[in-house]
Amino acid sequence: MVSKNQIKSACNKLFKTINLHGFGKKHQGKVRDFYKIKDKRILITTDRISAFDRVLGYIPYKGQVLNQLSKFWFDKTADIIPNHIIDIPHPNVAVAKDAKPYPVEMVVRGYITGVTSTAIWRAYELGERTIYGIKFPEGLRKNQKLPKPIITPTSKAEHGAHDERLTHDEILKRKLVAPKILEQMEEVSLKLYKRGNEVCKKRGLILVDTKYEFGEYKGKLILIDEIHTPDSSRFWNAKNYQERFKKGLEPENYEKEFFRLWYTGQGYRGDGKPPVMSKQLQIETAQHYIKLYEMITGKKFKPEKYPIEKSIIKALSVIASKAKQSRPRLPRPA
Ligand SMILES: Nc1ncnc2c1ncn2[C@@H]1O[C@H](COP(=O)(O)OP(=O)(O)OP(=O)(O)O)[C@@H](O)[C@H]1O
Ligand SMILES: [Mg+2]
Repeated sequence: MVSKNQIKSACNKLFKTINLHGFGKKHQGKVRDFYKIKDKRILITTDRISAFDRVLGYIPYKGQVLNQLSKFWFDKTADIIPNHIIDIPHPNVAVAKDAKPYPVEMVVRGYITGVTSTAIWRAYELGERTIYGIKFPEGLRKNQKLPKPIITPTSKAEHGAHDERLTHDEILKRKLVAPKILEQMEEVSLKLYKRGNEVCKKRGLILVDTKYEFGEYKGKLILIDEIHTPDSSRFWNAKNYQERFKKGLEPENYEKEFFRLWYTGQGYRGDGKPPVMSKQLQIETAQHYIKLYEMITGKKFKPEKYPIEKSIIKALSVIASKAKQSRPRLPRPA
């Protein structure tokens, strides 16, 4: 595990964003910066952290953890569905196939939990028994394992908006995805979740729930974005889950919940100016992301040297010069 001192020192050189030359216009999501060249998307995962659908600050090494963890999972699932990865030229960078994203996020859940407006426990607790078009029996308890994993899709919200609950029928009615494709997306999502849990189990973890994004690339369905990362998934300790559940205790989790709780503890729930993250929270969150990376992959995390921007520019320089060469040139005036 990376030492606390090293994390502390990286806190002064956080990877917030990057400006590349020779790649055209810079685009930004909450966590990633990206550039499009022809049919490729260069995704650069930064240290930005979001919660309540907002960027709240920066966590050292988070970008590297997410990119490398996704790579691990894309490799582990490539036999189930082709994914967007073409190359990982740097620990924070993925050169990906630029797909046409489907406007729904496929959320798969194996347990009834969560407290946000899209969480099924929240709805169940408020008395709903048909959630996301799925019927739930009486008598379920928070954090209980569901008889079988379910899909609870949400709309892919535009910048700043909150994701909205959807059902299978609504997706078809609103023509968000064609029936055949949706069927394929559902089948693949369940297979990916199953594979995720098989791998996690060997590491003493439960993949509680997770989100997949799909896109169309050259007429085919592919998996895009990220997979089984702490930004897109919940993880619990498998070893003491049963015991704690029986006792009515919350599971030991490896998720971002403690991060959210720090903000709610300061009275922040996503509106107005967020409080400035404490140094301690920043360090603990970094340790948390790194620990999860090491648990899942079984490998030691090798931190990149900070500041990181120079090594990214260097790793991408070959791609940049190729892109320049292939750009059509106007004939010189006579
Ligand atoms: N291969 C791909 N083809 C097309 N789009 C992709 C691909 N991989 C990821 N994306 C999109 O690129 C963006 C990545 O940025 P990031 O993860 O920071 O966004 P986000 O914060 O999750 O969402 P938003 O764009 O709403 O801010 C996402 O909008 C994601 O859907
Ligand atoms: Mg994202």
